[in-house]
Amino acid sequence: MKGIILAAGSGTRLYPASLPISKILLPVFDKPMIYYPITTLMLAGVRDILIISNPHDVDNFKKVLGDGSKIGVKFSYAIQEIPKGIADSFLVAADFIQNEPVVLILGDNIFHGFGFSTMLKLAAVRNEGATIFGYRVKDPERFGVVEFNEKGQAVSIEEKPKNPRSDFAVTGLYFYDKNVVEYAKSLKPSKRGELEITDLNRIYLEKNKLKVEILGRGFAWLDTGTTESLLQASNFVSAMEINTGMKIACIEEVAYRMGYISKNELMLLAKNFKNGYGEYLQRIVVKN
Ligand code: DAU
Repeated sequence: MKGIILAAGSGTRLYPASLPISKILLPVFDKPMIYYPITTLMLAGVRDILIISNPHDVDNFKKVLGDGSKIGVKFSYAIQEIPKGIADSFLVAADFIQNEPVVLILGDNIFHGFGFSTMLKLAAVRNEGATIFGYRVKDPERFGVVEFNEKGQAVSIEEKPKNPRSDFAVTGLYFYDKNVVEYAKSLKPSKRGELEITDLNRIYLEKNKLKVEILGRGFAWLDTGTTESLLQASNFVSAMEINTGMKIACIEEVAYRMGYISKNELMLLAKNFKNGYGEYLQRIVVKN
Protein backbone atom coordinates (compact mmCIF):
# COMPACT_ATOMS: atom_id res chain seq x y z
CA MET A 1 0.00 0.00 0.00
CA LYS A 2 1.20 3.49 -0.83
CA GLY A 3 0.81 6.56 1.38
CA ILE A 4 0.16 10.25 0.79
CA ILE A 5 0.58 13.14 3.22
CA LEU A 6 -1.36 16.22 2.14
CA ALA A 7 0.62 19.24 3.29
CA ALA A 8 -0.16 21.87 0.67
CA GLY A 9 -2.26 24.28 2.70
CA SER A 10 -1.00 27.81 3.24
CA GLY A 11 -1.86 27.78 6.97
CA THR A 12 -3.28 31.32 6.86
CA ARG A 13 -5.21 30.74 10.10
CA LEU A 14 -1.85 30.54 11.88
CA TYR A 15 -0.37 33.71 10.34
CA PRO A 16 2.04 35.24 11.24
CA ALA A 17 3.39 32.08 12.97
CA SER A 18 3.26 30.12 9.70
CA LEU A 19 4.44 32.96 7.44
CA PRO A 20 8.08 31.84 7.32
CA ILE A 21 7.39 28.12 6.93
CA SER A 22 4.56 25.65 6.27
CA LYS A 23 2.32 25.05 9.26
CA ILE A 24 3.05 21.33 8.81
CA LEU A 25 6.71 21.97 9.68
CA LEU A 26 5.97 23.98 12.82
CA PRO A 27 6.84 22.17 16.04
CA VAL A 28 4.30 20.22 18.03
CA PHE A 29 6.21 20.10 21.31
CA ASP A 30 9.58 18.53 20.37
CA LYS A 31 9.28 17.66 16.67
CA PRO A 32 7.88 19.01 13.40
CA MET A 33 4.15 18.45 12.93
CA ILE A 34 4.73 16.22 9.90
CA TYR A 35 6.44 13.59 12.08
CA TYR A 36 3.01 12.69 13.48
CA PRO A 37 1.33 11.76 10.17
CA ILE A 38 4.57 10.13 8.97
CA THR A 39 4.62 7.77 11.95
CA THR A 40 0.91 7.02 11.50
CA LEU A 41 1.67 5.79 7.98
CA MET A 42 4.78 3.90 9.11
CA LEU A 43 2.78 2.11 11.82
CA ALA A 44 0.34 1.02 9.11
CA GLY A 45 3.31 -0.63 7.42
CA VAL A 46 3.46 1.96 4.62
CA ARG A 47 6.97 2.80 3.42
CA ASP A 48 6.41 4.44 0.03
CA ILE A 49 5.17 7.93 0.89
CA LEU A 50 4.35 10.92 -1.31
CA ILE A 51 4.36 14.34 0.33
CA ILE A 52 2.15 16.87 -1.44
CA SER A 53 3.25 20.44 -0.80
CA ASN A 54 2.52 23.87 -2.18
CA PRO A 55 5.20 25.31 -4.50
CA HIS A 56 6.74 27.56 -1.79
CA ASP A 57 7.34 24.94 0.89
CA VAL A 58 8.46 21.87 -1.07
CA ASP A 59 12.18 22.60 -0.65
CA ASN A 60 11.76 22.93 3.11
CA PHE A 61 10.06 19.53 3.28
CA LYS A 62 12.92 18.04 1.25
CA LYS A 63 15.48 19.68 3.56
CA VAL A 64 13.81 18.29 6.69
CA LEU A 65 12.95 14.80 5.41
CA GLY A 66 15.20 14.00 2.44
CA ASP A 67 14.50 10.77 0.58
CA GLY A 68 13.61 8.86 3.77
CA SER A 69 16.38 6.26 3.38
CA LYS A 70 17.80 7.06 6.84
CA ILE A 71 14.63 5.72 8.43
CA GLY A 72 14.05 2.92 5.91
CA VAL A 73 11.22 4.55 3.96
CA LYS A 74 10.93 6.30 0.61
CA PHE A 75 9.74 9.90 0.45
CA SER A 76 8.86 11.51 -2.84
CA TYR A 77 7.37 14.92 -3.41
CA ALA A 78 4.64 16.43 -5.56
CA ILE A 79 3.22 19.92 -5.82
CA GLN A 80 -0.39 21.01 -5.58
CA GLU A 81 -0.28 24.42 -7.26
CA ILE A 82 -3.68 25.58 -5.98
CA PRO A 83 -5.62 24.14 -3.02
CA LYS A 84 -8.36 22.56 -5.10
CA GLY A 85 -9.58 20.24 -2.38
CA ILE A 86 -8.47 17.23 -0.38
CA ALA A 87 -9.71 14.75 -3.02
CA ASP A 88 -7.56 16.59 -5.59
CA SER A 89 -4.64 14.71 -3.92
CA PHE A 90 -5.56 11.65 -5.95
CA LEU A 91 -5.32 13.55 -9.22
CA VAL A 92 -1.98 15.12 -8.20
CA ALA A 93 -0.76 11.68 -7.09
CA ALA A 94 -2.21 9.55 -9.93
CA ASP A 95 1.22 8.63 -11.37
CA PHE A 96 2.51 7.73 -7.91
CA ILE A 97 -0.51 5.59 -7.00
CA GLN A 98 -0.29 3.46 -10.16
CA ASN A 99 -3.55 1.59 -9.58
CA GLU A 100 -2.59 0.41 -6.08
CA PRO A 101 -4.43 0.81 -2.77
CA VAL A 102 -3.45 4.02 -1.01
CA VAL A 103 -3.82 5.74 2.37
CA LEU A 104 -4.13 9.52 2.63
CA ILE A 105 -3.46 11.47 5.81
CA LEU A 106 -3.82 15.22 6.28
CA GLY A 107 -0.52 16.73 7.38
CA ASP A 108 -2.13 18.46 10.35
CA ASN A 109 -3.89 15.42 11.83
CA ILE A 110 -2.40 13.95 15.01
CA PHE A 111 -3.60 10.60 16.34
CA HIS A 112 -2.61 8.86 19.54
CA GLY A 113 -4.19 5.98 21.36
CA PHE A 114 -3.96 2.41 22.54
CA GLY A 115 -4.51 -0.21 19.85
CA PHE A 116 -4.11 2.27 16.99
CA SER A 117 -1.28 0.33 15.28
CA THR A 118 -3.45 -2.78 15.11
CA MET A 119 -6.35 -0.78 13.64
CA LEU A 120 -4.02 0.73 11.05
CA LYS A 121 -2.56 -2.61 10.02
CA LEU A 122 -6.05 -4.09 9.62
CA ALA A 123 -7.19 -1.18 7.47
CA ALA A 124 -4.05 -1.49 5.33
CA VAL A 125 -4.67 -5.14 4.44
CA ARG A 126 -8.32 -4.67 3.42
CA ASN A 127 -7.87 -4.38 -0.31
CA GLU A 128 -11.44 -3.67 -1.29
CA GLY A 129 -13.43 -0.55 -0.46
CA ALA A 130 -12.49 2.32 1.85
CA THR A 131 -11.85 2.63 5.58
CA ILE A 132 -12.27 5.93 7.42
CA PHE A 133 -12.27 6.78 11.13
CA GLY A 134 -15.02 8.46 13.14
CA TYR A 135 -14.40 10.41 16.35
CA ARG A 136 -16.98 11.99 18.67
CA VAL A 137 -16.59 15.78 18.87
CA LYS A 138 -18.54 18.61 20.48
CA ASP A 139 -18.62 20.73 17.29
CA PRO A 140 -19.38 18.29 14.43
CA GLU A 141 -20.49 21.13 12.11
CA ARG A 142 -16.79 21.95 11.59
CA PHE A 143 -16.06 18.55 10.00
CA GLY A 144 -17.21 15.81 7.68
CA VAL A 145 -19.97 14.08 9.68
CA VAL A 146 -20.97 10.43 9.47
CA GLU A 147 -24.35 9.11 10.62
CA PHE A 148 -24.97 5.51 11.75
CA ASN A 149 -28.08 3.30 11.91
CA GLU A 150 -28.99 1.19 14.95
CA LYS A 151 -26.73 -1.62 13.66
CA GLY A 152 -23.79 0.79 13.71
CA GLN A 153 -23.56 0.94 9.92
CA ALA A 154 -22.77 4.27 8.25
CA VAL A 155 -25.84 5.61 6.43
CA SER A 156 -24.93 9.16 5.49
CA ILE A 157 -21.91 11.41 5.23
CA GLU A 158 -21.98 15.20 4.88
CA GLU A 159 -19.34 17.94 4.76
CA LYS A 160 -19.70 20.61 7.45
CA PRO A 161 -23.48 20.25 7.79
CA LYS A 162 -25.41 23.10 9.49
CA ASN A 163 -27.51 20.51 11.30
CA PRO A 164 -25.25 17.51 11.93
CA ARG A 165 -27.03 14.13 12.04
CA SER A 166 -24.51 12.80 14.57
CA ASP A 167 -21.58 13.88 16.74
CA PHE A 168 -19.11 11.78 14.78
CA ALA A 169 -16.52 13.69 12.79
CA VAL A 170 -14.62 12.01 10.00
CA THR A 171 -10.91 12.29 10.78
CA GLY A 172 -8.26 13.11 8.21
CA LEU A 173 -7.08 9.54 7.63
CA TYR A 174 -8.50 7.63 4.68
CA PHE A 175 -7.67 4.17 3.29
CA TYR A 176 -8.81 3.44 -0.29
CA ASP A 177 -8.67 0.57 -2.74
CA LYS A 178 -7.17 0.86 -6.21
CA ASN A 179 -10.32 2.47 -7.66
CA VAL A 180 -9.77 5.76 -5.86
CA VAL A 181 -8.15 7.68 -8.73
CA GLU A 182 -10.96 6.71 -11.09
CA TYR A 183 -13.60 7.82 -8.56
CA ALA A 184 -11.71 11.07 -7.82
CA LYS A 185 -11.71 11.87 -11.54
CA SER A 186 -15.51 11.69 -11.54
CA LEU A 187 -15.92 14.32 -8.77
CA LYS A 188 -17.25 17.81 -9.49
CA PRO A 189 -16.12 20.84 -7.47
CA SER A 190 -18.42 21.71 -4.55
CA LYS A 191 -20.01 25.13 -3.92
CA ARG A 192 -16.75 26.27 -2.29
CA GLY A 193 -14.91 25.18 -5.46
CA GLU A 194 -13.14 22.14 -3.98
CA LEU A 195 -13.02 18.43 -4.78
CA GLU A 196 -14.45 17.23 -1.48
CA ILE A 197 -13.10 14.16 0.28
CA THR A 198 -16.61 13.70 1.67
CA ASP A 199 -18.01 13.32 -1.88
CA LEU A 200 -15.38 10.67 -2.56
CA ASN A 201 -16.31 8.83 0.64
CA ARG A 202 -19.97 9.05 -0.36
CA ILE A 203 -19.18 7.17 -3.59
CA TYR A 204 -17.83 4.29 -1.48
CA LEU A 205 -20.78 4.54 0.93
CA GLU A 206 -23.30 4.29 -1.93
CA LYS A 207 -21.50 1.21 -3.24
CA ASN A 208 -21.72 -0.31 0.24
CA LYS A 209 -17.93 -0.29 0.41
CA LEU A 210 -17.28 2.23 3.18
CA LYS A 211 -16.09 0.94 6.54
CA VAL A 212 -16.13 3.43 9.40
CA GLU A 213 -14.00 2.53 12.40
CA ILE A 214 -14.76 4.41 15.60
CA LEU A 215 -11.89 5.81 17.62
CA GLY A 216 -13.11 5.56 21.21
CA ARG A 217 -13.01 8.08 24.04
CA GLY A 218 -9.59 6.97 25.29
CA PHE A 219 -8.23 8.11 22.00
CA ALA A 220 -6.71 11.49 21.12
CA TRP A 221 -7.34 13.08 17.74
CA LEU A 222 -5.81 16.51 17.95
CA ASP A 223 -6.55 19.63 16.02
CA THR A 224 -3.78 22.06 15.11
CA GLY A 225 -5.87 24.55 13.16
CA THR A 226 -5.56 27.57 15.44
CA THR A 227 -2.76 28.95 17.59
CA GLU A 228 -4.68 27.83 20.71
CA SER A 229 -5.24 24.28 19.47
CA LEU A 230 -1.63 24.05 18.29
CA LEU A 231 -0.48 24.96 21.80
CA GLN A 232 -2.92 22.45 23.29
CA ALA A 233 -1.52 19.74 21.01
CA SER A 234 2.01 20.58 22.21
CA ASN A 235 0.82 20.51 25.82
CA PHE A 236 -0.83 17.12 25.28
CA VAL A 237 2.30 15.61 23.72
CA SER A 238 4.56 17.05 26.42
CA ALA A 239 2.30 15.73 29.23
CA MET A 240 2.23 12.24 27.69
CA GLU A 241 5.95 12.15 26.96
CA ILE A 242 7.03 13.50 30.34
CA ASN A 243 4.70 11.16 32.28
CA THR A 244 5.57 7.99 30.39
CA GLY A 245 9.16 8.65 29.37
CA MET A 246 8.12 7.50 25.87
CA LYS A 247 7.96 9.74 22.83
CA ILE A 248 4.98 10.09 20.53
CA ALA A 249 5.76 10.07 16.79
CA CYS A 250 9.52 9.67 17.02
CA ILE A 251 10.26 8.65 13.41
CA GLU A 252 13.61 7.01 14.23
CA GLU A 253 12.10 4.91 17.05
CA VAL A 254 9.17 3.79 14.90
CA ALA A 255 11.57 2.89 12.06
CA TYR A 256 13.52 0.70 14.48
CA ARG A 257 10.47 -0.92 16.09
CA MET A 258 8.96 -1.65 12.66
CA GLY A 259 12.21 -3.33 11.64
CA TYR A 260 12.94 -0.75 8.93
CA ILE A 261 16.38 0.03 10.41
CA SER A 262 18.83 -1.96 12.54
CA LYS A 263 20.05 -1.20 16.06
CA ASN A 264 23.35 0.08 14.63
CA GLU A 265 21.56 2.41 12.24
CA LEU A 266 19.46 3.74 15.12
CA MET A 267 22.62 4.33 17.16
CA LEU A 268 24.13 6.32 14.27
CA LEU A 269 20.98 8.43 14.00
CA ALA A 270 21.03 9.02 17.78
CA LYS A 271 24.51 10.50 17.49
CA ASN A 272 23.19 13.27 15.24
CA PHE A 273 21.33 14.77 18.19
CA LYS A 274 23.41 16.15 21.05
CA ASN A 275 20.38 16.63 23.29
CA GLY A 276 17.57 14.83 25.09
CA TYR A 277 16.16 13.54 21.79
CA GLY A 278 19.47 11.81 21.03
CA GLU A 279 19.67 10.45 24.59
CA TYR A 280 16.15 9.03 24.18
CA LEU A 281 17.18 7.21 20.98
CA GLN A 282 20.29 5.85 22.71
CA ARG A 283 18.14 4.57 25.58
CA ILE A 284 16.01 2.67 23.08
CA VAL A 285 19.10 1.05 21.61
CA VAL A 286 20.29 -0.02 25.07
CA LYS A 287 16.92 -1.21 26.42
CA ASN A 288 15.57 -3.06 23.37
O1 DAU B 1 -9.52 17.17 9.79
C1 DAU B 1 -10.60 16.40 9.32
C2 DAU B 1 -11.48 17.20 8.37
O2 DAU B 1 -10.62 17.63 7.28
C3 DAU B 1 -12.64 16.35 7.81
O3 DAU B 1 -13.57 16.09 8.84
C4 DAU B 1 -13.37 17.08 6.68
O4 DAU B 1 -14.31 16.23 6.10
C5 DAU B 1 -12.37 17.52 5.63
O5 DAU B 1 -12.99 18.30 4.60
C6 DAU B 1 -11.26 18.37 6.26
O6 DAU B 1 -11.84 19.56 6.77
P1 DAU B 1 -10.97 20.87 7.03
O7 DAU B 1 -11.89 22.02 7.19
O8 DAU B 1 -10.02 20.61 8.14
O9 DAU B 1 -10.18 21.00 5.69
P2 DAU B 1 -9.11 22.06 5.34
O10 DAU B 1 -9.57 22.79 4.13
O11 DAU B 1 -8.72 22.88 6.54
O12 DAU B 1 -7.86 21.17 4.91
C7 DAU B 1 -7.26 20.23 5.78
C8 DAU B 1 -5.74 20.23 5.55
O13 DAU B 1 -5.43 19.90 4.19
C9 DAU B 1 -5.08 21.58 5.80
O14 DAU B 1 -3.82 21.37 6.44
C10 DAU B 1 -4.86 22.16 4.43
C11 DAU B 1 -4.68 20.93 3.57
N1 DAU B 1 -5.17 21.13 2.20
C12 DAU B 1 -6.49 21.41 2.03
C13 DAU B 1 -7.02 21.59 0.77
C14 DAU B 1 -8.47 21.88 0.59
C15 DAU B 1 -4.32 21.02 1.13
O15 DAU B 1 -3.12 20.75 1.31
N2 DAU B 1 -4.83 21.18 -0.13
C16 DAU B 1 -6.15 21.47 -0.36
O16 DAU B 1 -6.52 21.59 -1.54
